[in-house]
Amino acid sequence: MTKFVINPNVKKSKIHKEIYGHFSEHLGRCIYEGMYVGEDSPIPNVNGMRTDVVEALKEMKIPVLRWPGGCFADEYHWKDGVGPKENRKKIINTHWGGVVEDNSFGTHEFFELCRQLGCEAYVNGNVGSGTVQEMSEWVEYMTFDGVSPMADWRKENGHEDSWDVAFFGVGNENWGCGGNMTPEFYANEYRRYQTYVRDYKADKKIYKIACGPNVDDYEWTEGVMSTCFRHSQPFQHGFMDGLSLHYYTHPEGWEIKGSATDFDDKVWYKTLSKTLYMEELIRRHGAIMDKYDPKKEIGLIVDEWGTWFTVEPGTNPGFLYQQNTMRDALVAGINLNIFNKHSDRVRMANIAQIVNVLQSVILTEGEKMIKTPTYHVFNMYKYHQDAMLVDSHIDTETIGVEEEYQVPNLTESVSVDENGVLHITVTNLSLTEDYEIDTTILEKNISEVKGEILTEEMHAMNTFEEPETVCTKEFTDVKITDKGLAFTIPACSVLHLSVK
Ligand code: AHR
Repeated sequence: MTKFVINPNVKKSKIHKEIYGHFSEHLGRCIYEGMYVGEDSPIPNVNGMRTDVVEALKEMKIPVLRWPGGCFADEYHWKDGVGPKENRKKIINTHWGGVVEDNSFGTHEFFELCRQLGCEAYVNGNVGSGTVQEMSEWVEYMTFDGVSPMADWRKENGHEDSWDVAFFGVGNENWGCGGNMTPEFYANEYRRYQTYVRDYKADKKIYKIACGPNVDDYEWTEGVMSTCFRHSQPFQHGFMDGLSLHYYTHPEGWEIKGSATDFDDKVWYKTLSKTLYMEELIRRHGAIMDKYDPKKEIGLIVDEWGTWFTVEPGTNPGFLYQQNTMRDALVAGINLNIFNKHSDRVRMANIAQIVNVLQSVILTEGEKMIKTPTYHVFNMYKYHQDAMLVDSHIDTETIGVEEEYQVPNLTESVSVDENGVLHITVTNLSLTEDYEIDTTILEKNISEVKGEILTEEMHAMNTFEEPETVCTKEFTDVKITDKGLAFTIPACSVLHLSVK
């Protein structure tokens, strides 16, 4: 019997809804086909946005969408993507397959998509190949309501009112595809560029995000933090609101990656063990940030995470299209539990990428659309959005096949929402064992418990022929006891319980 103790009276930190954020990039079939099909498409759409995809994402309660990249962001010149579509510049998407980018999806289309989704906008600016002026004018174009060259141009282009930019990224991966900079060089560039990311709305300040480290590059975090804090005393609020972190799960390493669908037990545990590394990354980068920002006012923004496998056979290698199985569901459930537990520092996270690319929640083929196992995890975990993390602890044992890739059998996180309902999410990483969980919930009179579960064999996935192989089912194997709950979580599963 596994012991699980929850103390709803110890509220720890707010789980900002943006932890359940997403990332869209001009990459493969993410934007074009995946979300934007154009007004004249036979695929049902509203102003060019696929209705089926928009509806599915709204149901999952997408809180925020990052755009336009990724590596694409540091080659994106926003002026190419506004004005009459027939006049927009056609460019080469050098990062992703060398295909023609016709710029038919630009700033106006992105904000129209966010409007339909009812989500916040996270716009990523260009530091690598753009200028300070270009970035500053983009912000003016998007957010200024008065009379100015950029605001007037936006109006001429058909949008009278400004938009709200909730989050703005000052460059992307500037240690690599965003300009191959050193941390100190980037930090100085950050200081300069962010100065001209003006807040035109006193009540809707833009949350500015500096480019943070790749995986375990602690030198980058130290270099950026120390350079940004030099000669900035007292540290001005709004100078840097967030620092990004990118970490992908590659079971076989960056070069080989490994198949999305063809794997054995060893690779299952290896993948999950590499996913769990996220916890150490957050702790160690967080410890460096603590030196400069002990009050944790600067958020760690995990704006690229998820599995990155070898592309599906027969697809364009530059498009990064991959399938999604129960293994991805576990990767999502584990990561989201980690982010919840570290929500004192992790302010936002954006899984890559939302449709048709890496660990996508949706895949499309022509007019068909499927929800992946990862979608169902986000849909089950949505109740944590803006809830308070509460104290919880579950006893675990170590499992696995190879010594190097041992993992805990279970992960969990628990929150309480504004109505006092407890939301418990648990992942069972074992391929073979069910676990009986004896749960103590301190000082709570339980009147009702409801559950939903995602559980199938490890390779199970949804296809265009069989779209519902993996989907959530009601979970009734849970009893209210005199001190809490008793339930058995099956092998290879992700579970959500809501407790009144
Ligand atoms: O997600 C694919 C790419 O991975 C992004 O464009 C880039 O930021 C990262 O290297």
